[in-house]
Amino acid sequence: MTTLHTHDALTARATEADAASPLRGTRALFTLPDDVIYLDGNSLGALPSAVPAVVQDVMHRQWGERLIRSWNEADWWGAQTRVGDLVGRLVGAAPGQVVVTDSTSVNLFKAVIGAGRLRPGRRVVLTDPDSFPTDLYMTQSAAGLAGLEVRRVHPRDAVAAIAEVGDALALVSYSSVDYRTGELWDLPAITEAAHAVGALACWDLCHSAGVMDVGLDAGGADLAVGCGYKYLNGGPGAPAFLYVASRHQDDFEQPLTGWQGHARPFEMRPDYEPAPGINRARVGTPPLLSVLALEAALTAYEGLSPADVRAASLSVTGTFIDALDALGVDLPLATPREPERRGSQVSLRHPQAFAVVQALIARGVIGDFREPDIIRLGFAPLYVTHVDAVSAALHVKEVLDGREFERPEFAERGAVT
Ligand SMILES: Cc1ncc(COP(=O)(O)O)c(C=O)c1O
Repeated sequence: MTTLHTHDALTARATEADAASPLRGTRALFTLPDDVIYLDGNSLGALPSAVPAVVQDVMHRQWGERLIRSWNEADWWGAQTRVGDLVGRLVGAAPGQVVVTDSTSVNLFKAVIGAGRLRPGRRVVLTDPDSFPTDLYMTQSAAGLAGLEVRRVHPRDAVAAIAEVGDALALVSYSSVDYRTGELWDLPAITEAAHAVGALACWDLCHSAGVMDVGLDAGGADLAVGCGYKYLNGGPGAPAFLYVASRHQDDFEQPLTGWQGHARPFEMRPDYEPAPGINRARVGTPPLLSVLALEAALTAYEGLSPADVRAASLSVTGTFIDALDALGVDLPLATPREPERRGSQVSLRHPQAFAVVQALIARGVIGDFREPDIIRLGFAPLYVTHVDAVSAALHVKEVLDGREFERPEFAERGAVT
C-alpha cells in the first residue's frame, strides 16, 4: 500500500474511534486554531471556551463593581479549597484533601518538610535522579533544611531500595509519570512499600492529573503535588495543587506559615496556629483571577469519569503509535508501548530532536523538545482526537522523509524550548 492509502485507511479507523469515544464532543469545549494539532497540553493546556467569560465577570463585576465585597459574596475566600475539591475528583481524592495554591515547586517544598516532621527521627528521602529539575532542587533544599539526606534512586528500583533503607526512611518522592519519557510508575506499589517500612509517599502528578485515574486515596498516597496549567488547562501560570491525606492533616506542619493558613486569620493574632484540615496548606493571598480561571477550565471535565478519560487517552496514544508503525516511521520510542506503562504522551528519540520539533511546529503540529534527544508529544484526550493522532504521525513521517529538519531556520533556539 502507498503511504496515502495507509493514511486513508488509518484515518477511516480513527474517525470511527472518535465517534465511539466517551469523550466525543469535548473538543468543542476548547478554543483552538483550526490549522493546529496541539500536542503540548502537557506543557500548557489549551484554552477551555468557558474561561474568558468567567474571567471577564471576575474582572468587571466581581472586582470592578463589587470590589472587596466579593471576598464574601463570591466566596473568594473559599475558592482554593472549592477548586481543590474539583481537582481532587480527577485525581481520586475525596473532598477536603486538596488545595489549589502556589506553584508545584513551592508545594513540594512544603510537602517534603511537612513529611519530615511527620516522621521524626528518620533521615532519608528517596527521589528519582531523572525527575523534573525543580523536584530535585526543591527536595534537596527542603531536605537540607529539615536535616534529611536525599538519595537518588530510579523509580524502577524504588521498591528494593525502600526495603534496604528500612526504618531510616522518612519519605519517597516520585513523579507518577516521567516528564520526558512518559513512563507511568506504580503509585500503589511504591506507596505500599514505603508504608511497609513506616515511611510516607509523595507524588508529583504534573503529568497525570487530568489524563488518568490517579487514585490517590485508593493507592494510599500520603501527599501529592501537581500543576494547574498542563492537562487541567488552567492557563499560563495557573496555581498548582497540594494533597494532604486526611489522616495526616492534624499533624501536617508545613514550613510556610502564612496568615491564610492560620486557624483564625481575621483575629490577626501575633502567633501562628495552623487551620484545621487542608486549609493549613494555604500560605498567602492567592492569584484569584487564575484560581477562578482554573475553576472555569475544570467545567470541561463535568460528566466525565477519570476512567473514561484514561481509556480515551490510551486509545489516542495507541492510535498514534500504531500509525507511526503502519507508516514505517522508524524512530525509537522513549515511551513504553505497553498501555499500562505509559501516561498520556508519546516521546520519540532523534539526534536532531530540537529541529524535528521546530519543523513539526512549522506544519502546525505543536509539541516540544526535551534534552537531550526527545521529541515530546502530549495527547490531551479532551481535545486531541484519533484523527489528529493519525495526521500527526503522517507529519512526522513527512518531516523525516523530506529531511525538513535540516533547514537552517529550525536550528534556532528561543528562550523556551
Ligand atoms: C514533573 C514536574 N514538576 C514540576 C513542574 C513545574 O513546577 P512549577 O509549577 O513550580 O513551575 C513541571 C513543569 O513542567 C513538571 O513537569
